[in-house]
Amino acid sequence: MQHHVSLKPFNTFGLPATARRMAVITSDADVRRVLDDPRLGRAPKFVLGGGSNVVFTRDLIDEVVLKVEVAGMAVVDDGARAAIVEVGAGERWHDVVCWTLAQGLPGLENLALIPGTAGAAPVQNIGAYGLELQDRFHSLDAVDLVTGRAVTLDAARCEFGYRDSVFKRALAGRAVITRVRLALPKPWQPVLGYLDLARKQQETGVAEPDAQTIFDWVCAIRRAKLPDPADIGNAGSFFKNPIVSPEQCQDIIGRDPHVVHYLLPDGRYKLAAGWLIDACGWKGKTIGHAGVYAQQALVLVNRGGASGAEVRTLATAIQESVYGRFGIRLEAEPVII
Ligand code: EPU
Repeated sequence: MQHHVSLKPFNTFGLPATARRMAVITSDADVRRVLDDPRLGRAPKFVLGGGSNVVFTRDLIDEVVLKVEVAGMAVVDDGARAAIVEVGAGERWHDVVCWTLAQGLPGLENLALIPGTAGAAPVQNIGAYGLELQDRFHSLDAVDLVTGRAVTLDAARCEFGYRDSVFKRALAGRAVITRVRLALPKPWQPVLGYLDLARKQQETGVAEPDAQTIFDWVCAIRRAKLPDPADIGNAGSFFKNPIVSPEQCQDIIGRDPHVVHYLLPDGRYKLAAGWLIDACGWKGKTIGHAGVYAQQALVLVNRGGASGAEVRTLATAIQESVYGRFGIRLEAEPVII
């Protein structure tokens, strides 16, 4: 158990906060040790992975922070229809993508360079460039913080949605994910539907890219649009792209015909939150030490020395102006604590 730990190095926004108590978790047994400890067992727990989806606005005094560092990557079943890869929840997601490619097991390349750990990936069902974690998910192991029992959940029990899962709802704060298994389908098929990738195909004239080429394209697209947390503190997209009814979408098109919108299979529309924020004039703006990234209005950044409260103030101001102009309530993607 560590005491009075600065969380600044452990959140990609680089926000200042202190954990009064922090336990490093490298196995299920480590979780149970915390739960069995009479001083810690009843205290609220805060599970921290790579800190890429969290905004700390205060110190964690009452909570015990569980910093998940379960390691390991292995192919546990190399079947005819899919390879099943098991990874420790503490592995960096991007390392998992690189490792599977190096093993000759493509399938995760569209999800390259997403910050955070493998264990955090199912929590918000990470997604990018036409692929979501749920498309490659097999199952996961977790320890229930209430009962202390180890559980294995398949995709149905994870209740995946757009940037959503049971871990943000019924099991929020209740489970420590320790291992994740991914299913990489055979034969491999490229996912190239996303506009930015189709554009790369045209630009390069490569009609049938292999997985490594798609990986390189995704890395290049992300580097051009998204700030690297190592250079500028951020948590990726700060808001979810809102999903609206056809009537609401028509109403917004009436207010601005250029609004970027995509028809979903269920007949509703997904709007580009980045476009809505941009249209309200926020791109490149700053409040205090927190700002809106100049290349992508959906990303809030730490301009240096920002507090979580400043990030929250900026986020609220953006939400209010988007609501005022378009009648849409933007929902924050990161956990704000
Ligand atoms: N747009 C603007 N102005 C902006 C930003 C975007 O007009 O400042 C427009 C773009 O021109 C484009 C549309 O909005 O037409 C959508 O932008 P983009 O393709 O960059 O994707 P996004 O909707 O902003 C989502 C995910 C990203 C993911 C990309 C690629 C969410 C909340 N975000 O972003 O995920 O990498 O698609 O698939 O769904 C993350 O969750 O942290 C994240 C980075």
